[in-house]
Amino acid sequence: MDKLLITGNGPLQGEVAISGAKNAALPAIAACLLSAEAVHISNIPAVRDIETALQLLERMGCRVERDGTHLSVDASQITSVRAPYELVRTMRGSILLLGPLLSRFGEADVSLPGGCAIGSRPVNEHITGLERMGAEIRIEAGYIKAKSVRLRGAHIAFDVPSVTATENIMMAATLAEGSTVIENAAREPEVADLAIMLGRMGAQITGAGSNTITIEGVPHLHGATHRVPPDRIETGTFLVAAAATRGKIRVLDTNPAHLQYVLTKLEDAGAAISHGENWIQLDSQGKQPLAVNVTTAPYPAFPTDMQAQFVTLNALAEGNSTVVETIFENRFMHVAELQRMGANIELQGHTAVIQGCERLQAAPVMATDLRASASLVIAALAADGETSIDRVYHLDRGYDNIDAKLARLGALTRRVSTS
Ligand code: EPU
Repeated sequence: MDKLLITGNGPLQGEVAISGAKNAALPAIAACLLSAEAVHISNIPAVRDIETALQLLERMGCRVERDGTHLSVDASQITSVRAPYELVRTMRGSILLLGPLLSRFGEADVSLPGGCAIGSRPVNEHITGLERMGAEIRIEAGYIKAKSVRLRGAHIAFDVPSVTATENIMMAATLAEGSTVIENAAREPEVADLAIMLGRMGAQITGAGSNTITIEGVPHLHGATHRVPPDRIETGTFLVAAAATRGKIRVLDTNPAHLQYVLTKLEDAGAAISHGENWIQLDSQGKQPLAVNVTTAPYPAFPTDMQAQFVTLNALAEGNSTVVETIFENRFMHVAELQRMGANIELQGHTAVIQGCERLQAAPVMATDLRASASLVIAALAADGETSIDRVYHLDRGYDNIDAKLARLGALTRRVSTS
C-alpha cells in the first residue's frame, strides 16, 4: 500500500496537462461490448478504475490492446457475461456493463456494487429502466441476473437524474426494438460524449446533454474511433490546488465549457481566470482565497465531485462559508481528516460550516474516497510541514499520475510503499 508524503512548499506555478476523463472513459469502454467489430479509443487516462474495467472485459473474452493512452477492444468473441464481485466491489462504475451485455447478448450477470464510503448508492433506476424495456431481472446471491429476448423501446422517467443509469439505459436502447425516451436524464458532459461515441458506432440518439434523450434502436452497431474528452474534475482539482496555495497555473488540454460553474466560484474566491478553447489560467495574485458558499447539484450546477476540494479551499480562505452536499449522503469523510490539520469545520447534517484560516498544519491523515483524497492533497500543499496521506490507492483510482504532475508545478511530493 502506498503513502504520499507532501510538504507545503509555497504557491503552485507552471503548466499542467489534463488527462482523459475517467467518467467518460468508463462508459466508452462498456460501449465496446455493443459491437462485434473493434472499437478504438484514445486519450484513455492511466488510472486504476480503467485497469479494473479492462480486466472485466478481458474476463468476458474481449481482446484488449493498450498502447499508452490508446485502446482497442474487440468484443467479437465473448465467453462470459459475468462481472464478478471481486472486481465490481472496487469500482461501482462496473454497473455500466449491465445495459450493453443485456442488450447485445440477452443476458447479464453483474454483481451488485454494494455501498461505498460516500453513501448507499442504490441502482434501482438502472434496474427499473431495463425492466420497462422487457428485461427479467432477479437479484440472487448479490448478483443482478438479467435476461431478455430483444429489449424493446420504452418511455422511462427517472426519479433522480442518475449519470450511470442514463448511460446504461442509453446503451441498452441502442440495440432495442423501437424507440426509447429517457425523461429527467442526467445532463453531464460525459453522457453527451457517450452519445457522440455511440453515434459513431451507428446508434441513433438525439437530445443527449438535455434532460430528454430519444434513442431509436438499430439491429447492429459497428466499430468506431473515439477520443475521450478532458477530465473536468481533474482540471478543477488542479485549479483549486493553485488557488489554495496562492499560485498561478495554466491548465492545458482541457475544456473550459465543462467547468463554467466551478470557474465562476473560483472567480468569486478572488482568482483571476482567463481561458482559451482548450486551456484555463488561474492567477491568485498571491492572495489568500475568499470564502465561497457552494451547494452541489446535478450538471450544469456545482459538481459533487468538486465538493471536497472546495471544503479545503474554504478552510484556507478569508471569511466563513457553507458547503452543502445534496447528491450523496455521506460525502464529508474528509472533514474529520481536515480537522486534524487544523481546519475549522463544523458538520451540520448535509452542510459543512467553515471558518477560514491562514494556514493548515501537517498531520498524518487517511484517504477515504477518491475526491476526499484530492482534498487532503490540496490541504497538504498549503500546510506547514510534511503531511502523510495514507491509502492513496483511492487517489490512484481516478487521478493520472497526480504526484508527478504536482511535482512539475513545484510541489514537494514523495510516494513511499508501506507494505
Ligand atoms: N441514485 C438513485 N438510484 C439509482 C441511481 C442513483 O437513487 O438507481 C441516486 C444516488 O444515490 C445519488 C444520485 O442518484 O444520490 C446521483 O447518483 P448517480 O447515479 O448520478 O451517480 P453515479 O452514476 O453512480 C457518477 C460518477 C460519480 C459522480 C456521480 C454524480 C461515474 C462512473 N461516476 O456516479 O463519480 O459523483 O455520477 O455526478 O460516472 C467520482 O468520480 O469520484 C465519482 C464518484
